[in-house]
Amino acid sequence: MFKKLINKNKNQPIQSNFDLDLHNIPNHVAIIMDGNGRWAKQRKLPRIKGHYQGMQTVKKITKVASDLGIKYLTLYAFSTENWTRPESEVNYIMNLPVNFLKTFLPELIENNVKVETIGFMEYLPSSTLKSIAKAKEDTKHNTGLKLIFAINYGGRAEIVNSVKSIYDELTAKGLTSDEITEQMIDDHLMTHAYPDPDLLIRTSGEQRISNFLIWQVSYSEFIFNEKLWPDFDKEELINCIKIYQSRQRRFGGL
Ligand code: IPE
Ligand code: IPE
Ligand code: MG
Repeated sequence: MFKKLINKNKNQPIQSNFDLDLHNIPNHVAIIMDGNGRWAKQRKLPRIKGHYQGMQTVKKITKVASDLGIKYLTLYAFSTENWTRPESEVNYIMNLPVNFLKTFLPELIENNVKVETIGFMEYLPSSTLKSIAKAKEDTKHNTGLKLIFAINYGGRAEIVNSVKSIYDELTAKGLTSDEITEQMIDDHLMTHAYPDPDLLIRTSGEQRISNFLIWQVSYSEFIFNEKLWPDFDKEELINCIKIYQSRQRRFGGL
């Protein structure tokens, strides 16, 4: 059956024969974009070519997510553990926002996408920070998809930070740990302004969380997709959403 998806940004209907239930699109999709290195290796290319191609996929998937009416798309771009990789690879990844946002930013603006980040940004090179700051500034009034890049992000470190700031606030007020609630921990996470992910996708066939949003995915639906990230595309995303729509979420109830 053919269904019409409305591209809200350009007001052009786009056709899809994917049988998606447009009333049950996940509000927040989080993706562990994995497999760039293997994609390059398969082609006897240096790993950085995989990261370059991975950014092309980011462009495409952002557009599809926006057209589908997804409200939050969180992309795991660099983990707190990825610093252990060779320096040349780390440098290349750190430079990607600089090169990439030059062409991507106008497209994001056109599509009403708002760029945000989570992660320990203070450790990034200043040129990287500058280009990300520009992207955030130029898209800050946009009201469409929130595109959240997780850069130098780690779930355990995030929780530690949350607990530390709660401790500081409580001691300053002369209060005890009796005050601590789940909501309070949540409010002090880097994701405090976002709802929890409804759907978590990991590409490349690996089936692990690798320190991504470990608190926030308590009740997310997990989908492990076999494609390497540079090969992930619109059809794959739509398939993932179809699988999501076939699941019954119970949140501990019946
Ligand atoms: C994911 O691809 C991107 C980052 C972690 C930055 P990988 O670089 O992990 O690719 P594989 O897993 O080695 O194939
Ligand atoms: C997770 O992928 C991090 C990102 C996608 C940014 P990794 O490739 O770093 O994860 P592991 O090492 O396979 O668990
Ligand atoms: Mg990997």
